[in-house]
Amino acid sequence: MCGIVGYEGTREACDILIDALSRLEYRGYDSAGIALLGQGEIRIERRKGKVEELRKVLKGAALKGSIGLAHTRWATHGVPSERNAHPHRAGDVVVVHNGIIENYLELKEHLKGAGHVFISDTDTEVIPHLITDHARKGRDLVDSVRLALKELKGSWAVGILKESERTLVAAKNQSPLIVGVGDGEYFIASDIPAIINMTNRFIFLEDNDMAIFKGRDMRIINVDGEDVVREVRQVCWTAGMAEKGGYSHFMLKEIFEQPQAISDTLLGRAREEEGEVEFEGVDLPDPAGIRKIWMVACGTSHHACMIGKNLIETSLRIPVETDMASEFRYRDPIVSPRDLFIAVSQSGETADTIAAMREARSRGASTLSICNVLGSTLAREAENVVFTHAGPEIGVASTKAFTTQISVMFLLTLCIGKRLGIFGPQDVRERLREIRAIPRKVRSVLDEAPSIQAAAARYMFFRSFLFLGRGINFPTALEGALKLKEISYIHAEAHAAGEMKHGPIALIDDDMPVVCISPADRTYKKACGNMEEVMARKGNIILISDDETHEMAPRAGEMITVPRTAYELQPILSIVPLQLLAYYIADLLGMDVDQPRNLAKSVTVE
Ligand code: F6R
Repeated sequence: MCGIVGYEGTREACDILIDALSRLEYRGYDSAGIALLGQGEIRIERRKGKVEELRKVLKGAALKGSIGLAHTRWATHGVPSERNAHPHRAGDVVVVHNGIIENYLELKEHLKGAGHVFISDTDTEVIPHLITDHARKGRDLVDSVRLALKELKGSWAVGILKESERTLVAAKNQSPLIVGVGDGEYFIASDIPAIINMTNRFIFLEDNDMAIFKGRDMRIINVDGEDVVREVRQVCWTAGMAEKGGYSHFMLKEIFEQPQAISDTLLGRAREEEGEVEFEGVDLPDPAGIRKIWMVACGTSHHACMIGKNLIETSLRIPVETDMASEFRYRDPIVSPRDLFIAVSQSGETADTIAAMREARSRGASTLSICNVLGSTLAREAENVVFTHAGPEIGVASTKAFTTQISVMFLLTLCIGKRLGIFGPQDVRERLREIRAIPRKVRSVLDEAPSIQAAAARYMFFRSFLFLGRGINFPTALEGALKLKEISYIHAEAHAAGEMKHGPIALIDDDMPVVCISPADRTYKKACGNMEEVMARKGNIILISDDETHEMAPRAGEMITVPRTAYELQPILSIVPLQLLAYYIADLLGMDVDQPRNLAKSVTVE
């Protein structure tokens, strides 16, 4: 999705902004632009394509100024092109925007009637025109922006710069925007990694906030013009965490970070000696009164929810309903005040998940979010939040977010089970011992990376893959297929293995590798039956199992063995070889692994 950065300070802003913009590249984009205000006028440069293209142009342009804005655009309205790239300008006002202005056509017609001339196809361009329209009536920038924002419908994070007043304004509604607080300088950005090398002190703007930067001072008001106070919060992420650190891609780095990320998720929460799990600052409703648990998310986080459902229902016998956030609120869900609604999101900024949580809250449910990003909208808006502590996830394909989310769900199940009296201290202790061993076991799967890379070389030219799993292994199959398709552009689909003979079996021939996730659990025998059916049709099996002596191993084209663990934790180990397989296939095919086409890291529009 679009990325915004801004600077107000004493240093030359150009390099700072371009550097910050490259740190936002992972979000996905198709064009980039910058506006700088020096001693004279605002100068703008925009380019279709990568930030690197913009950087090249700027080298010769000697753009100077200590106030500025920059933007990466992910096209929604109008094709990717220089003309549609941000910043957009009207008079002496320039604007960068992330989000969607739903009533832009109506506003555009009205503004055209008042003599405004539009040059792009974007929804964004109405914003600078609206602001200048108010300014023509004698209002200053702050009032003009306030009134303009009140006319907008939809979602926005905006950076606005006005030449004649040398003022920068940042405002948001349903799209993320943060302020970085430096020494005598301020930054604005769509997310923390963009400016973490500049500061670790942030203000997380709330909806309808407007931060106004003028002459090294900042104040925050709301769109009604009232002063608001927002806390400056320090985050423990470092610049190094948002860099590749010697790995060829962020995705590979993040796959390898999983042992540490899971350890960090457990830190301070898994209290083995006492047989306790504690989430500091989390005040869950009395579990005995919970009618139903909802687990709602998108993409990879939704797959983690499906595993969470399995964990909770099996152990706690509380009904759990999972849903894709994009579906949840449009089906008039039957939510009661006795329900616990769990929203799961790496970024905490996924528009559909936020909307779903708001819907559940409006129907009286208690809300809990499982998030990775401090200060994100879901983290702020849920009554309770459990952070995954995975560190920044920059690669578009989610990896460590998934395994840390499952780890949180495992701990949550123990915590609720203890309160319900289902687990005694000894049960908790034993289960904590299992999860404590997980980082070491993940490390041993990672040690197999060279052989998985070799397997990738053997399978990279197949154009279609099937992934099968049963029970708790079905979401792992879905996640494995998602990883492969999103970064390699190879068609991959996943099915519950038992469903295969109800349709997908028609696809199987010797040109279709079938990835079967089959640990030695309660689904083992049934999964063997499914593999027999695949083989009978000359399907080529890639077997993932914790059982070295798996009865299908001798006939599988490939076998990747993972260590054994508790049934509920097996997906954490089974997904790692699938992440690596997807990564190596995509890399061998020469794909842009960290920024796959058409995808955005944080989907902040519905
Ligand atoms: C897939 C992927 C996406 C995200 C989804 C939700 O690799 O990254 O499917 O999982 O967009 O994002 P979050 O977890 O930030 O809400």
